[in-house]
Amino acid sequence: MSSNISINNEIEEYINNHSLKLNSVQKEIILYNETLGKIKKMQIAVSQCHFLHLIIKISKIKKILEIGTFTGLSTVSMSLALPEDGRLISLDKNQETNKIALNFFKKANQDSKIKTIIRPAFESLKIFKDQNKKFDLVFIDADKENYKIYYEESLNLINQDSLIIIDNVLWHGEVVDKKKNDRLTTIIREFNSYVNSDKRTENLIIPVGDGLTVCRKL
Ligand SMILES: C[S@@+](CC[C@H](N)C(=O)[O-])C[C@H]1O[C@@H](n2cnc3c(N)ncnc32)[C@H](O)[C@@H]1O
Repeated sequence: MSSNISINNEIEEYINNHSLKLNSVQKEIILYNETLGKIKKMQIAVSQCHFLHLIIKISKIKKILEIGTFTGLSTVSMSLALPEDGRLISLDKNQETNKIALNFFKKANQDSKIKTIIRPAFESLKIFKDQNKKFDLVFIDADKENYKIYYEESLNLINQDSLIIIDNVLWHGEVVDKKKNDRLTTIIREFNSYVNSDKRTENLIIPVGDGLTVCRKL
């Protein structure tokens, strides 16, 4: 059996140097997030930007729902992969970061495709369910405590063969560290088991960035 390599910073850099390239606004968002100090960690990894791009292209996705906009890196990355008539709704509760994100959407010429909604995500999800709204892809990257609720609500908002992708499912590798039993690590572990035992979807954890689970609705 061949052994898997572990992805250290050097290999990550090599991958990035030999893969798709970021556009100027994606680079600008990353530079801006650097100025925020510790919370820059919130943004998705560069490799995840490209992974989402590829999935959207090959699945011919047109309607995306995102839970967790922050300053807009994942939103812009996904929007750039959409066709001209594609649409993306992004949910966040933070007015301040949303203002910054809106500015980047304009700079990237994506503002006509993207709509943001500022309120607790759960409220928006309930409204979409009542409106019988459907999406081709839901990307979940917000408060981990509500991941299970977001997953359940997202299942109401997609048809068969559509996708739910969830970020941070490897939790910096702590999901396998038996010494780590803090609240958030436990929440992520329970969430991963919950999704994996769900007969309504099939799922694969992809070790890109902090770990993405890709679920296809059966
Ligand atoms: C990890 S960040 C999202 C990062 C983003 N996807 C990116 O690539 O830059 C999580 C976001 O979820 C938002 N959030 C946290 N709890 C929320 C809630 N209950 N409803 C809506 N948004 C929430 C935070 O304000 C934060 O902007």
